[in-house]
Amino acid sequence: DCISSRRLLKLPGFIDAHVHVREPGATHKEDFSSCTAAALAGGVTLICAMPNTDPAIVDEESLILAKKCAKKGARCDYALFVGASSENTSTISEFAADAAALKMYLNETFTTLHLKNMDVWTKHLSNWPRTAPLCVHAEKETLAAILLLANLQNRSVHVCHVARKEEISLIKAAKEKGLKVTCEVCPHHLFLSTNDVERLGPKKSQVRPVLVTPEDQQALWDHLHVIDCFATDHAPHTLEEKTSEKAPPGFPGLETILPLLLNAVNEGRLTIDDLVNKFHKNPKKIFSLPYQQNTYVEVDLDEEWVIPEAMPFSKAKWTPFAGMKIKGAVHRVVLRGEIAYVEGQVLVQPGFGQNVREWELRINPLDSRPPSILALDRPASPSPHQMDDDDGQTN
Ligand code: NCD
Ligand code: ZN
Ligand code: ZN
Ligand code: ZN
Repeated sequence: DCISSRRLLKLPGFIDAHVHVREPGATHKEDFSSCTAAALAGGVTLICAMPNTDPAIVDEESLILAKKCAKKGARCDYALFVGASSENTSTISEFAADAAALKMYLNETFTTLHLKNMDVWTKHLSNWPRTAPLCVHAEKETLAAILLLANLQNRSVHVCHVARKEEISLIKAAKEKGLKVTCEVCPHHLFLSTNDVERLGPKKSQVRPVLVTPEDQQALWDHLHVIDCFATDHAPHTLEEKTSEKAPPGFPGLETILPLLLNAVNEGRLTIDDLVNKFHKNPKKIFSLPYQQNTYVEVDLDEEWVIPEAMPFSKAKWTPFAGMKIKGAVHRVVLRGEIAYVEGQVLVQPGFGQNVREWELRINPLDSRPPSILALDRPASPSPHQMDDDDGQTN
């Protein structure tokens, strides 16, 4: 079915470090099976799952539950975040090697994990291992506060969903001073703004950070070199919830991020190198994620389409990007030698996805499972060459 005039391009499997899977606890919004189907359809082969679930992932019991859900349901590979609470400052670091990262929620958002006490922030910053990634939801002046506290501890932080001019400018200045800070930006802040609020309505347009002004949006594009990663903040809520009286904040994004970014490449606003750096190499490096063997995404740079009212795989059944004209599409995804997605069909089943933090633990002699990395070799890969994976500097 591949028309020869298509510009098919082979790219590495993309890594989305900010995904709300909603399982356990809110599987009517999303679950591991639907979320990772959406990921694969969007060219994402590895997700980091956020801990603001029900129960929240804050201790051994809840982490075991999340691992069980993920192992059963995931179709693509994953790592699981743990969440900082005011109760777990002295215990959560025990799970550092097991977790994608520690997440600290420092502002009001869709979570039960909001940390209000600065002493608790400091305890987490000092107790979480310096070599392990630590992510913050920190907007406006909260960002300045956490950057100072992290700097006083001489530790790195990764800033989630940077949205405003004041935030990207602060991160730029902090990097120039040598502070250990990295950041991500989401498609809804790059491609939507307050100009879209009227079209979406006051409830559906709710997201944290809020949709920003065109001036803030321009500042993100002007500071592309300061942005380490693209991440979706895939935060599905059902259409019914999004149009209800107490509409929760959050947008689905997994199925649309890569097409939106490819469209930006076609418009000359982004290069393929930017795309590979910020949506594969940098998240891989920042989160110390392993290489996925024989994994790649074929994109069609020429396919033109219009984003529909709802994308097929997420349970959200709506998208804030509906109606946008796009040039660029995901054609095929190969994950560890298996065709995981092709032309609208997800071909791998729940349970195919693996916890990549267990790959690294496979050298633990107490771990009796077969070494998962060795089970990955599959005959007759359609790949003409091994995607090489150069661990360069971020940016
Ligand atoms: C997220 C959610 O729904 O889990 N919502 C959002 O608006 N971004 C929480 C978050 O990432 O802050
Ligand atoms: Zn084809
Ligand atoms: Zn957040
Ligand atoms: Zn989020």
